[in-house]
Amino acid sequence: MIKAAIFASGTGSNFDSIVRAAEQGEISCDVRLLVCDRSNARVIEKAKKKNIDTFVFSPKEFGGKDAYEQQILLECRKRGIEWIFLAGYMRLIGPVLLAPYQNRIINIHPSLLPAFPGKDAIGQAFEKQVKVTGVTIHYIDNGMDTGPIIEQEAVRITAEDTRESLQKKIQAIEHSLYPKVIQTLLVEEEIH
Ligand code: GAR
Repeated sequence: MIKAAIFASGTGSNFDSIVRAAEQGEISCDVRLLVCDRSNARVIEKAKKKNIDTFVFSPKEFGGKDAYEQQILLECRKRGIEWIFLAGYMRLIGPVLLAPYQNRIINIHPSLLPAFPGKDAIGQAFEKQVKVTGVTIHYIDNGMDTGPIIEQEAVRITAEDTRESLQKKIQAIEHSLYPKVIQTLLVEEEIH
């Protein structure tokens, strides 16, 4: 079974959807570790409930990105982590993790990239009054939401939508799309 880590900074609804899919055998991986950069993030409780190890760190307590990523790498290596799924982890990944996990770190982003990268993509799309937005899953590179796109799904913004209703629609897509894409990548890897 492939061993995976999830990196998250927030509520953890995507964390939950991946862990649930793994428990139900819909994706063939074992989520061994949560990496989180905010000690008050709700995702930490979710990991504890599932008995998944957590590495919670405060970036300020390290000399810089290289230093905390060295520690993350150590935590991943200890557990034999092969894939990393970013699920609302709001930090760029640096060379310390990118080099050993080339093409093995993927991210979910709540817009149709390259539109609306960065923070609050749902709010950005809503403010711009675009008619279509969506969800993107992509490989991580050294840019902000710039890596090669793996999959996208669109959602229409209607006249009745509020920011909250749009967020609900996007999250519903995220929760079904992310596990599906993960499983496709893992199966492809087994075949090759
Ligand atoms: C998700 O909507 C995810 O797409 C977004 O953060 C949210 C985390 O929600 N990620 C980004 O914006 C990355 N640039 P969750 O904690 O409920 O899974």
